Amino acid sequence: MATIAPPTPSGVQRPQVRREPTSYEALKKHFETHPEERPQHTHPWDVSRSDIYFEDRWQPIFAEMRAAGPLHYIPESPFGPYWAVVGHKAIQHIEALPEIFSSSWEHGGITILNRLSEEEAAAAGVDTRELPMFIAMDRPQHTGQRRTVAPKFTPTAISDMEAEIRQRTGELLDSLPRGEVFDWVDTVSIELTTGMLAILFGFPLEDRRLLTFWSDWSGDTELATVREMDSLRWSILQEMAAYFQSLWIERTMDKEPGDDLISMMIHSEAMNQMRPEEFMGNLVLLIVGGNDTTRNTMSGIIHALDKFPDQRKLFEENPELIPNAVQECLRMQTPLAHMRRTCTEDTEVFGQTIKAGDKVVLWYISANRDEEVFDNPDKLDITRENARRHLAFGYGIHRCVGARLAELQLRVLLEEMHKRRMRVHVAGDVERVRANFVHGFRKLEVEITSF
Ligand code: HEM
Repeated sequence: MATIAPPTPSGVQRPQVRREPTSYEALKKHFETHPEERPQHTHPWDVSRSDIYFEDRWQPIFAEMRAAGPLHYIPESPFGPYWAVVGHKAIQHIEALPEIFSSSWEHGGITILNRLSEEEAAAAGVDTRELPMFIAMDRPQHTGQRRTVAPKFTPTAISDMEAEIRQRTGELLDSLPRGEVFDWVDTVSIELTTGMLAILFGFPLEDRRLLTFWSDWSGDTELATVREMDSLRWSILQEMAAYFQSLWIERTMDKEPGDDLISMMIHSEAMNQMRPEEFMGNLVLLIVGGNDTTRNTMSGIIHALDKFPDQRKLFEENPELIPNAVQECLRMQTPLAHMRRTCTEDTEVFGQTIKAGDKVVLWYISANRDEEVFDNPDKLDITRENARRHLAFGYGIHRCVGARLAELQLRVLLEEMHKRRMRVHVAGDVERVRANFVHGFRKLEVEITSF
């Protein structure tokens, strides 16, 4: 699958990974023409169905569920039975109990997806080992590994990156066509987020589109319920790991350590105590975790401001509202619809008994529209006083480590748009991701005018 590309300047051969359509895309196409073969969802509150996100009609379903209570047991779904936690307070409560509600792969991992059992994996000839990542670890391993990357995301470390992010953002905005319809996702959101990773990790700019390919397949959980997907998923993961391994080797050969994150990780004391696969897993986590989430917020902001022209006007007239507008747009978009935990001991939560082994799905997308916390929650309000209480970055010990970096990129984008008096209108196709995990846009056709 992976062929070898010409040696890089440092002499290391970087694997050249597949870019042509994979059998995954063929499978996707097949489902488009045979929707009846998609996994069937029969329970009316089974919010794991990806069509409600693809068609943007999830809001009334969650509102009905919240009105009935903060969590509900869904006995049947293509992903098996699960608890749907839909209330803001209930999600915070569960995330504050990480000893009881585990994130680890051993218990089931961090998304609604089921992993194949050992017997199923053996029968399918699939290797289901996961790359170890601290997002899918419990204490104490989680604490130690998170601590090794956290210093790279302190306010000072982040603000050091601001000038470069601003310069790149400005250059890209200056290159955009006026009076012409173009796809914001492809031209702006993807370019800025992958370019950012190039700054942060020294990821080769010429290969930055691979990041989009890698994070896209992982988002489509609906397809991943199909058994064949597990082997494909694994092969892509290996492809990704092989690529990062070559980058890692390249950096270890550098005589002078660079100031990119990979070099800094390699040369840090704490990282030296990590197993190679842990290092690799965390690298994949940092690179993939920050990619489509930030990208989809960059698209979500444009979509939301277009849908609420009064708020767009407010933004145009009051640039000092930008930091709060970023929080409000994160609340409205919620780029990761859910995270999953697995219960490790029978526990009562808000009057319901969750049993050891139960799958518990935390629907951030619902918490961020919880009318007990946010007035008129379906409305974008960039002056909203408690916009910061959104759970788009999660809560508790696993709260997003890259939150500040994401906020910085989003703020700079809005500031640079404002500086250029740029107004972006939705002017064509809007296509959403068909998934219940990644919540975002595949395509957003826009046109730019001035204000
Ligand atoms: C964890 C969302 C950007 C790296 C998480 C979690 C969420 C999330 C929901 C899990 C929280 C939980 O389980 O409680 C987002 C969103 C982003 C974003 C919405 C952008 C708008 C980034 C960026 C990076 C990053 C830019 C790094 C470059 C991570 C890592 C974790 C994480 C390493 C694991 C933290 C842990 O387990 O302790 N993120 N993220 N994220 N995110 Fe982000």
